[in-house]
Amino acid sequence: MMNRPDKEFRIKVTNDGPYIVTGGVPLAQDIVVIGSDGEPEKREKGPGYPDQESYALCRCGQSKNKPFCEGAHISIGFSPSTARPTKPPMESEST
Ligand code: FES
Repeated sequence: MMNRPDKEFRIKVTNDGPYIVTGGVPLAQDIVVIGSDGEPEKREKGPGYPDQESYALCRCGQSKNKPFCEGAHISIGFSPSTARPTKPPMESEST
């Protein structure tokens, strides 16, 4: 993993697209472990991604290469002002 104390980490929120991350910020999965009762029990750090100086993180939720942006926000016409929040993966469907 990159150790870049001389680098300034930055996250830029683009108007209708991804988060642009610069400065060699390390990126890793965060895994929710489900207990025997079917409820989220704890979180564990998952595998990391290869170090990159910069990358674009999907903000629209439609990328087929998550967590990275692959351009789907353009074809769906993503706009943060009309986007609906997505449910956490373990949230029940009760109404
Ligand atoms: S923000 Fe680009 S694919 Fe989601």
